[in-house]
Amino acid sequence: MRLLVCGGAGFIGSAFVRRMLALHDDWQIVVLDKLTYAGNPDNLKPVKDDPRFRFVHADICDAAAVDAAIERAGGVDAIVNFAAETHVDRSIAEPEAFLKTDILGTHTLLEAVRAHDIWRMVQVSTDEVYGSIDEGSFCETGRLNPSSPYSASKAGGDLQVLAYHATYGVPALITRGSNTYGPYQYPEKLVPLFVTNALEGEKLPLYGDGLNVRDWLHVDDHVDGIAAALTAGEPGEVYNIGGGNERTNREITAIILEELGLSWDTSVRSVTDRPGHDRRYSIACDKARAELGWEPRVDFDEGLRQTIRWYRDNEWWWRKIKHGTGEFARWRKRWYEERA
Ligand code: NAD
Ligand code: TYD
Repeated sequence: MRLLVCGGAGFIGSAFVRRMLALHDDWQIVVLDKLTYAGNPDNLKPVKDDPRFRFVHADICDAAAVDAAIERAGGVDAIVNFAAETHVDRSIAEPEAFLKTDILGTHTLLEAVRAHDIWRMVQVSTDEVYGSIDEGSFCETGRLNPSSPYSASKAGGDLQVLAYHATYGVPALITRGSNTYGPYQYPEKLVPLFVTNALEGEKLPLYGDGLNVRDWLHVDDHVDGIAAALTAGEPGEVYNIGGGNERTNREITAIILEELGLSWDTSVRSVTDRPGHDRRYSIACDKARAELGWEPRVDFDEGLRQTIRWYRDNEWWWRKIKHGTGEFARWRKRWYEERA
């Protein structure tokens, strides 16, 4: 299998690359990544000298660069697209890049699949495209009802994929994963932000009443679900990939504090809620179980505690991000100062 993995320097994309190269001796992977603030070569350090791996610094919106990457590889069997702007809060403050990458970038890749002889494209999407649900769970035919510029842009990408399959027969499919946690996640997202803040003696900024619910999925399980969709999924189909671990943000916060031996009263600060904050995400994953033979394996409590310990033991990785280029500090000032 020769793969073009777009966005492979980010959190989930890099986990996919590391894991697939470890599992499959005969897979070759070209990562194409723009290296935005969230893209990080350190995430690919474990594979950088592997002869089956190559890195191309490019934007998925740049059709010529995507074509050149495919041609230089001598063709690819599949594209797996992780490349996206991914942070809901940034999409509220600075939405334009989300529309460009998450919609137009997806379009560029679909055109590349049309133009080249490519067997499969997997579009990595999110349960957030369904929006919030108070009770029950969405299956794949659920109405798209996104609330943030991020989830609306991801939904736009998904609809392009389905339209290209229907119109041109492009062999693309979609996975919709739930909130993912694990090592190497940029520390703007809930788990790594709260763990690293706690390790630095900073407050944990909990939005609103802290009772919003997310379904937590370990990154290894997410990556295995994407790989199962790549190898066993049907073009034109959508597969929900959820962890089955619905927890409130308060519950996540309490585990982090307990693992690090800190108290709620001295560590947590309630801050102004996120506008349009989805209350609960929940997806049914019977289709992935039945048709892909996939199910999550990582025990949630153990997976989260291991993840917390990974950030504790790998300060070299996140300290550069939080205190290096100034981008993280800019974002923190822009977003959190007004919520204090
Ligand atoms: P991330 O923000 O950690 O990484 C995104 C990567 O895409 C970075 O390496 C970045 O440099 C790259 N990128 C951004 N714009 C690009 C462009 N125009 N061209 C090329 N590369 C570009 O994101 P993540 O958390 O790893 O998410 C990966 C995918 O999974 C996204 O599509 C996201 O919507 C989806 N997803 C994420 C989660 C989650 O909880 N993190 C859950 C479900 C689905
Ligand atoms: P996040 O990790 O940004 O993922 P998403 O918004 O895509 O679900 O947020 C997860 C939950 O944590 C969400 O309900 C918002 C909440 N949250 C906070 O309470 N404080 C924070 O500083 C952040 C970043 C998130």
